[in-house]
Amino acid sequence: DYDTDQTSVSVAYWFALADVLETGITVIHTNPGNAPPNIPDSYHFRPPFGWMNDPNGFGRFGGRPHLFYQHYSHGLRWNTMHWGHAVSSDYLRWRHMPIFLFPSEDLTARPDRRGGAYSGSAVPLADGPGIRVFFTEQVQDRIPEQQIQLTATSSDLIMAGNADVILPYRPLDEGLTADFRDPYVFRGPDGLWKMLLGSQSSEGGVVLLYETHDHTAASGWTYIGKLLVEKHYRTTAIECPCLLPLDGPATDPATRWVLILGLMNSEDQSTRRKNLTMAIVGWFDGQTFAKEFEQELDFGADNYAFQAFVDGDAIVGIGWLANWADTGPAIDFPTAMTLPRNIHLSAGELHTPPIGAAESLRSHILDRTRLAAGEQVSFINGAVEILFELEKPGVHFHLKLEHPTVRLDVVVDDDGLAICHGDDAAESPHYIAKGARPKRLRIFLDYGSIEVFADRGRWAGTKRISGFEPIQSARLIAEAGAVLHATVWALKP
Ligand code: FRU
Repeated sequence: DYDTDQTSVSVAYWFALADVLETGITVIHTNPGNAPPNIPDSYHFRPPFGWMNDPNGFGRFGGRPHLFYQHYSHGLRWNTMHWGHAVSSDYLRWRHMPIFLFPSEDLTARPDRRGGAYSGSAVPLADGPGIRVFFTEQVQDRIPEQQIQLTATSSDLIMAGNADVILPYRPLDEGLTADFRDPYVFRGPDGLWKMLLGSQSSEGGVVLLYETHDHTAASGWTYIGKLLVEKHYRTTAIECPCLLPLDGPATDPATRWVLILGLMNSEDQSTRRKNLTMAIVGWFDGQTFAKEFEQELDFGADNYAFQAFVDGDAIVGIGWLANWADTGPAIDFPTAMTLPRNIHLSAGELHTPPIGAAESLRSHILDRTRLAAGEQVSFINGAVEILFELEKPGVHFHLKLEHPTVRLDVVVDDDGLAICHGDDAAESPHYIAKGARPKRLRIFLDYGSIEVFADRGRWAGTKRISGFEPIQSARLIAEAGAVLHATVWALKP
C-alpha cells in the first residue's frame, strides 16, 4: 500500500507469492479523487502502475513468453530502475508478476543516487526452466566508469538472485563516452557467446562486441571491438542493440542477420524525431558485421528500444510505445508496449506485421463498408482494428480520424504514407514512410495510440496519443475515384 505525492496516485496492491502464478497482481485505485483517469479496456501491454520504458529480456522461457521491462513502481516519472515482469501464453494476454530485478542496495538506500537496473537481455539456463539475465547498473557518482555490466540468475522465473559484476570498465582508448549499456547476449555463429553493448563516441553511436566461451563465469568476457559506428540522423548514441539470424540458421554463413538499434539524440529534421529504431540487414561472422541494406523499423515516433528474439521459426519483437523527447511532464498514466510484431524478409525488404495471433483480439465486426470521398465509418469503441483496402491502387487519400483533442490523419500522397499528429494542423509533425504506395492499411487504434501497418507489414508506423479519449470515426477525404473498402473490428481487452 503506498501513496506518493510525486505521482498523485494512490495504489493498493496485493499479492501472495503463492497466488501470483495463479492470479497475477490485482491493482485497486483507492483514491478516486486523486487517481489518474481510469484506463479503459485496452489491448496494449501496460504495467499495473508506475513508470515503464524499454522491454528487457524478452523471450520464451519454461515454454511461455516472458516480458521484463524498465520499471519504477512508485511514480509516473523515470527514476531508479527495476525490472518489471509479466508472463503470457500468446504475447497478447499478460499476467503481471512481482518485480523481478531490484537495483543494488546502495542505490535504493540513497535516493539521490539515481540509476538502477538498466536494460538488458535474458538467456535460458542450461538446466531447468530458469534464466540468466544480463543488465547494466548505472551509478551516478562513479564517473567516468558510471555504467557497469552485471549478471544474475533466477531458477523460478519469479525473482532474480544476487547479481555479479561481469564488466566493470568500458574499453579504454576507444574514444568512447561513459555510455556503455544494455547488454544483449546471444549465441554467435561460431558457437561462442556474444554480447553487444550500446555506446557513443565523437564519430556517432557505437555498438561494442564482446565474447566468451562460458557466459556463466563472472569473468572471461573479451572485448572484440566496435561492431558498428552509426551516424544516421546524426545520432550520438546507440541504445538497446540486438542481433538475430533472419533467414536461416545462425551457423550458416549465407544467413542474413538483422541488427536492431535504438538511435538516441538523432536529428530527423523533417519529423523532429529524437529517438528511432533502425534495422540493418547483413551478415555476421561472429566478429564482424557486413551491411547489405538498412531500413527504419518504424516510421512513427513511438517504437523505441525494440527487442526481439527467435521463437521457433519466427522472430518476435516488441518496442516501447513512447520516446524520450515527449514522455516528460505530459505523462499522466503508464505508457504501453507496441503490439508484438514478427520480423521477416520478403522480396528483399524487411516486414514487421503484428504477430498472427493479433487476429485473436478481434471480437466482432462493427462495420464493413465501401467508402467514397466525404464518407465516414463510425465506431463507438476506442479499441478497434480497421482494414482499409484500396479499390484502385495509386490514388491519393486522406483519412481523418476523429479525436476530441488532437489532429490525427493518415495520409497517402506523392510523398508516401504519413501519420499527421498534433494540435495545430500546420505545425504538427508528419511521420512519413517515404515513397510508400500502399494497397492495404491495417490500422490499430487503442486508447492512447495508433499503429499503422501497410502492405502486410512492409511499413509500420506507431504514434502515442496522450490522453484516453476514444477515436470514434474515420472520414475519407480523397480525390475522385479513390474508394476504400473498410472492415472494422471491435477488439477484446
Ligand atoms: C533506452 C534507455 C537504455 C537504458 C534505459 C534506462 O530507452 O535509455 O539505454 O538502459 O533506457 O531506463
